[in-house]
Amino acid sequence: MNGKDIRPDSLERIESAAQAEAFIASEVERVRKQVGDGKVLLALSGGVDSSVVAALLIKAIGRNLVCVHVNHGLLRKGESEQVVQVFRHEMDANLVYVDAVDRFLDKLAGVADPETKRKIIGAEFIRVFEEEARKQEGIGFLAQGTIYPDILESVDGVKAHHNVGGLPEDLSFELVEPLKYLYKDEVRVVGKALGLPDGMVYRQPFPGPGLGVRCLGAITRDRLEAVRESDAILREEFAAAGLEGKVWQYFTIVPDFKSTGVKEGRRSFEWPVIIRAVNTRDAMSATVEDVPFALLSHITDRILKEVKGVNRVCYDMTPKPCGTIEWE
Ligand code: XMP
Repeated sequence: MNGKDIRPDSLERIESAAQAEAFIASEVERVRKQVGDGKVLLALSGGVDSSVVAALLIKAIGRNLVCVHVNHGLLRKGESEQVVQVFRHEMDANLVYVDAVDRFLDKLAGVADPETKRKIIGAEFIRVFEEEARKQEGIGFLAQGTIYPDILESVDGVKAHHNVGGLPEDLSFELVEPLKYLYKDEVRVVGKALGLPDGMVYRQPFPGPGLGVRCLGAITRDRLEAVRESDAILREEFAAAGLEGKVWQYFTIVPDFKSTGVKEGRRSFEWPVIIRAVNTRDAMSATVEDVPFALLSHITDRILKEVKGVNRVCYDMTPKPCGTIEWE
């Protein structure tokens, strides 16, 4: 392990708003020293880590932070809109919004293998980000939402911690990683102190390839829409029932096969929606949430009424192991 990548003993565990304020003040100073009048580029997905980095850097260097939000078409309902609303309109960020939906979906068309889908999404993301980086003048730094577990895991060889790793050599910016010694719970406390909305700060984990691994097999736009709409209903109903923030991860999956049903007295042949809701500490193993039957019935009714192309809803009862949390 590189000596400078060890969390300093002097850094107290951040649990209170006052501790968060102190951390923010010292990081703002440190970043200003590191960056000076330079410009910093950040890939802003809207996830907790990148959002907190953005809010912190806006405080430190204002419009010298250039945020690039890539909408790859695999985000949840309302996510891109929230990024634009919060950062461009409320925080006055210098935000570049890239609508890359067609680009990603065209690349993914007909690709059924999950790992190939992941690779395409990851590689295309870097390509889009690289193109945006080249359009910008005078960028000297790249900010990343690296957090301490990323560093610990990359030391163990579990994963590469450079989220936007893979940029070509000539775009090797100096890194700005203000959260790199923080654990996830501390990042949330800091995000809250920076004024980010709760929906952003306390959001459940969401995989990088997004809904792409929940629209099973080869992604089609209509089935992707069924995933997005059913996921939105599930999230809305879990929030209304007080399960948001209590259940670790919950989402819907739409497989690439159909089953027979009957709708308005006529035979239908449509997709099922599968609901998954799990609890875990570290995502290595997981148990299934005991969702009240009445709530499941209500969510089922709404999905069947509101989501196009769906005639069946199932609840996934499988713990991890032997099922992984995601289906792909
Ligand atoms: P599994 O399906 O492996 O998921 O039990 C464990 C946790 O990891 C998330 N996950 C991913 N996150 N890129 C990510 O950033 C991925 O490709 C990916 N696949 C799974 C999953 O949502 C769960 O929280």
